[in-house]
Amino acid sequence: MPSERVGVGLIGCGRIATLQVLGYLDHPRARMVAVCDRDAELVKRRRLEWGAARAYLDYTDLLADPEVDAVEILLPHHLHREVAIAALRAGKHVSLQKPPTLTLGELAEVEAAARTAGRRLRVFENFMYYPPHVKARELVQQGAIGEPISVRIKTAAGRFDDGWQVPASSQAWRMDPATCGGGPTCFDHGYHCFNMGRFFVAEPVERVHAWIHVNRFGPTSFYDGPAMITWKYAGVPKFGSWEVIASVGMRVPSKYYASDDRIEIHGVEGILWVNRCTGHLLDEPSLVLYRDGETRAWHDLEHDWAASFRLGGRDFVDALLEDRPAAQDAAEAAETLRFAIAAHVSACEAREVRLDEVGPETRARLPGLD
Ligand SMILES: NC(=O)c1ccc[n+]([C@@H]2O[C@H](COP(=O)([O-])OP(=O)(O)OC[C@H]3O[C@@H](n4cnc5c(N)ncnc54)[C@H](O)[C@@H]3O)[C@@H](O)[C@H]2O)c1
Repeated sequence: MPSERVGVGLIGCGRIATLQVLGYLDHPRARMVAVCDRDAELVKRRRLEWGAARAYLDYTDLLADPEVDAVEILLPHHLHREVAIAALRAGKHVSLQKPPTLTLGELAEVEAAARTAGRRLRVFENFMYYPPHVKARELVQQGAIGEPISVRIKTAAGRFDDGWQVPASSQAWRMDPATCGGGPTCFDHGYHCFNMGRFFVAEPVERVHAWIHVNRFGPTSFYDGPAMITWKYAGVPKFGSWEVIASVGMRVPSKYYASDDRIEIHGVEGILWVNRCTGHLLDEPSLVLYRDGETRAWHDLEHDWAASFRLGGRDFVDALLEDRPAAQDAAEAAETLRFAIAAHVSACEAREVRLDEVGPETRARLPGLD
């Protein structure tokens, strides 16, 4: 980066922007230059809240702003490809929220635009920055549980009237696979969990089998859960699973979405548990290790979900200043997207699917929604 500070532009000022902005507000070498949203009242409010110099209604105007070095794209998924490519062509570095695009072909187009423009592209998946996840991976890599052989992820969704206030507009585009790319749980939230399926085990995921039940609440509303998704890593037998449980009568304490994610990693010599993420379902230490008849707990890790956004935002700025890639690069993101799409094909076609069956145009369809 030529300048001493990174000028940041944020495109999309909706629900998640309030957390995403933390890493930029917090960083001494980042400056919030501009915000953009097609909602005039919202963008005006955000500009004042975050002290941005300028507010735009049209993202092409933000991209023409010479003080913007890098953009964070926080838009409905069907717009990711178009806006990311426009930003890269305008010479901006891009942080693109997960899931990066609707298909692998679209992601390849964005990656090619980054290469041509000579600008950084990172796909932002915040679970990778959640301190208990980071510590758990560090422990796995240090051999704390021996060779990891099983990853089990559980998402527990609770009562819909709990947690964050999420505007209806933020839900509406997630109810349409044309704009979301799949459903709100298994594709949108799922990107995190598929990525966690890859985070602790070195071998690539080879094949997947999924049941995804689609619960309709009316003509324009559905929930893609409960779901049970299992997979096999390549080579020696190692398995993983992700279960989505919709406990619609249960309270899930959370400052954010009323849902929580727990992860259990078994190794040949021990077990690790990450006991929370988005919410605060159980009053247990965020990370626990069992080995050799003894249990060790970590009580002092930062475990508020917001920390993962703050740390992820900071890392993007640091990466630009240090001229290094930030996680995830497009190749890594493509593997997680491929995994997510393969699971959906499996659920639709009621069969085991190999990840190499996913082509550039394959989409994450949902059973009963075509
Ligand atoms: N990392 C996470 O845990 C996490 C959580 C939630 C959302 N997200 C991701 O963040 C992105 C945004 O999600 P959200 O929940 O904030 O959605 P949202 O609907 O709350 O916000 C999207 C915003 O984009 C604006 N917008 C739509 N079209 C536009 C256009 N053409 N030009 C300018 N503005 C436009 C809308 O007015 C809205 O304010 C998605 O990619 C989503 O997957 C990530």
